[in-house]
Amino acid sequence: MNSPTISVEACAKVNLRLAVLARETTGYHSLETIFCGISLSDRIVVEPGERGVRLEIDGHIDTGPLEENLVFRAATAFYDAAALDPSIHVQLEKRIPSAAGLGGGSSDAAATLRALSELHGHPLPPAKLLRLAADLGSDVPFFMTSTPFALAWSRGERLLELPPLPSRPVLVAHPGGALPTAAAFARLSDLRHGEHPTQAFAFPLGALDSWQALALHASNDLEFVAFERVSRLPHALRSLLDAGAVIALLAGSGASIFGIFEADEDADRAAGLLAGAGFATWRATTLERWPPAVRGIDQGLTNG
Ligand code: C5P
Repeated sequence: MNSPTISVEACAKVNLRLAVLARETTGYHSLETIFCGISLSDRIVVEPGERGVRLEIDGHIDTGPLEENLVFRAATAFYDAAALDPSIHVQLEKRIPSAAGLGGGSSDAAATLRALSELHGHPLPPAKLLRLAADLGSDVPFFMTSTPFALAWSRGERLLELPPLPSRPVLVAHPGGALPTAAAFARLSDLRHGEHPTQAFAFPLGALDSWQALALHASNDLEFVAFERVSRLPHALRSLLDAGAVIALLAGSGASIFGIFEADEDADRAAGLLAGAGFATWRATTLERWPPAVRGIDQGLTNG
């Protein structure tokens, strides 16, 4: 008999391009972004339990009140939409740093939706599941796509899935402290005197065919704002490039930064440099496919 336990690796993302465009009437800025999944991951394990949704957070990361956790909210939204009574135990093993621009909370929410869908035999149509994802947060739909590489617009929920590029070594580094997303967008708006570009830079789709071509278009409009808050970041990005990174950028709205390398040795060298400068570091790879949901808890990805 199959084990009733479902385990899903909730992988982090980086934005290889993040252009901030006009502020929409929703209060959110329209974006043009390229999402890329990386192997740094949290783990979600779901199994039948006592009545209700019980969430247990493993590890030592403060994720705030349990009911506000995106995993809890995703589980509640799933059971409401499927008109099922929950009797579920969800374990969340946190490894992705929180509020760091890596989409950890959003990925946890998507992984919860995927795990519960698998556990209950897919009671919701894919379009409905995607709508739940978008309601939970702008980045959540990316983690429901079939490939971990996508061009996105609006708040990031309008997605064009792309063929993934070959897996490359990644170094993620965090200087410590959180950079609130709302403050980052507000500051960018101030710096631009409220005048955002209304149209994104039109880059050729061929620019998404190789890491070298993509590197020419890699940028993040929120970088400058993060540099104001964390003065060590420009030097750290320089170190990533000096170590051989093809792309080195702020992750999302920060404060993590990341480098994508051709060779493991270069990423390892960058890890040494940034650890020496007081950054927390994680080695990972870019993903060519999302790790599948698995029955049992011992078959998931391990973080290197
Ligand atoms: O996505 P999230 O709800 O975490 O964003 C927090 C805040 O950041 C929003 O309330 C908004 O002020 C700002 N934001 C924005 N445009 C985006 C994403 C976030 O202005 N695309």
